[in-house]
Formats: sequence, structure tokens, C-alpha cells
Amino acid sequence: MRIDVVTIFPEYLAPLDVSLVGKARARGLLDVRLHDLRAYTGDIHRTVDDTPCGGGPGMVMKPEPWTDALEDIAPPGADGPAPRLIVPTPSGRPFTQALAGELAEEPWLVFAPARYEGIDRRVFDEAGTRMRVDEVSIGDYVLAGGEVAVLVMVEAVARLLPGVLGNAESHRDDSFAPGAMDNLLEGPVYTKPAEWRGREVPEVLLSGHHGRIARWRRDEALRRTAAMRPELLARLAPGTLDKHDRKL
Ligand code: ADE
Repeated sequence: MRIDVVTIFPEYLAPLDVSLVGKARARGLLDVRLHDLRAYTGDIHRTVDDTPCGGGPGMVMKPEPWTDALEDIAPPGADGPAPRLIVPTPSGRPFTQALAGELAEEPWLVFAPARYEGIDRRVFDEAGTRMRVDEVSIGDYVLAGGEVAVLVMVEAVARLLPGVLGNAESHRDDSFAPGAMDNLLEGPVYTKPAEWRGREVPEVLLSGHHGRIARWRRDEALRRTAAMRPELLARLAPGTLDKHDRKL
């Protein structure tokens, strides 16, 4: 997968060199290219923002550098499919595991993280004539800019790419993963030693009895979901709860 990020703070994305994403890049599974938006300005001050039309606080990012950057990265009329443009913004649609899965299927993503009050709307109206544009929020809070949201989304997408995680099953039971755990939150996990500071690992996990272990994990997932995110339980598809679940 290819990922381009246009930003006035390329250094903010340095964590993309580290850990899972860094390794995926080093192994050629992920081609990440960072672009400095200021390289697409034409004035001596390398201006990327201006006052908002209609007045109001803050500054708005100018359309020209953004469009020049996007057209340099993905030239209009070029052969082959256009990328999908992802614009992090608190006013976007929620970023979910389902959306991460959808983006992981794309061959090419371009991220456009804004600073200030956002980017002139015409950039996306224009880009939308030749590529799919998604405005996406990573949560109901306001960050100082979209770069951290890009880090969040790239990591969530990268770990779903084939070959990136060591054990292909390790995202099967993730909280929010479709399938095995029916969108329940993951319950507690333990490792050795079996007893530590007088605290014991639940006996069932040491029993070697796969059926009992699976049942225990599901019970814990149900309990945790009820405690932390009751609205997720309410949203479970009808028929997902079995007789034993309903007793909890
Ligand atoms: N930029 C600022 N806040 C954001 C948020 N919550 N999600 C995505 N991008 C943002």
C-alpha cells in the first residue's frame, strides 16, 4: 500500500519510522511518502493560511498550495486509479475498525491533515471530481491539527495489511473486530507466573481446556462491554447472544 501525507509539520510524523509501521515500511509492505506543504507555496514567507472569509477567529489554509501538492502527488489525467483522499477533521465521520478495514483494502491513500481552522472547502470540492474524499474524525475532541489523527489512522490500517502482524490471528479477537467476538470489548489477559504477589491467574486459563477457556473469555468480554460500553451491547445483532450469555 502507498500512503502520502501532506503537512506543514513532516517531522510530526517521525513515529511512522518506528515499531510496527516502521518495520512494515522497511519490509516494503508500506510505502509512506511525506510532503511539506510549504514546498508548494510561491512567496518568500511560504504562506499557507489567510483570514477566514466572513470573519471570525483563526486562520484558514489557502487552496493553492494544497491543490498544487495534491496535483503533484496524483496528477489529474494520469494513468491508473486515483488515490483515496482522507481529511482528518473533528467534523468528519467517525473512524472505526470497519473504516480501518475498508481503507486497508485500498492500494493508495493520501492524507491531508490541516492546522488552524481547516482547509478552504474548494480544495475538496475540486479533488472530489477525480478521487474519493473522506472527512474523518478520530473522536469527539479537538486536536491542534490532523497529524496525530493521521498517525492513529495509519497505524490502525497498517496492522491490518497482509504480512504486517506476525500472527495473522492476533487481530481476530481485537475489541471491535468483526467476527469471533461479535464486537465485544476484549476482557483481561494474563501471562506467567501463575501466582504473583499473591495474585493468581484465573485457574481456567491454566486448565488447557479450550472450550472452558473460550467460554470464560466470552463471559469476561460481555462483562467488560456491559461495564465500559453498554451501548455496544444494546447494538449487538439479534441472535448474537446465546442462552449462556443471557444469564450473565
Ligand atoms: N483534527 C483536530 N481534531 C481532530 C479529530 N478529533 N479527528 C480528526 N482530525 C482532527
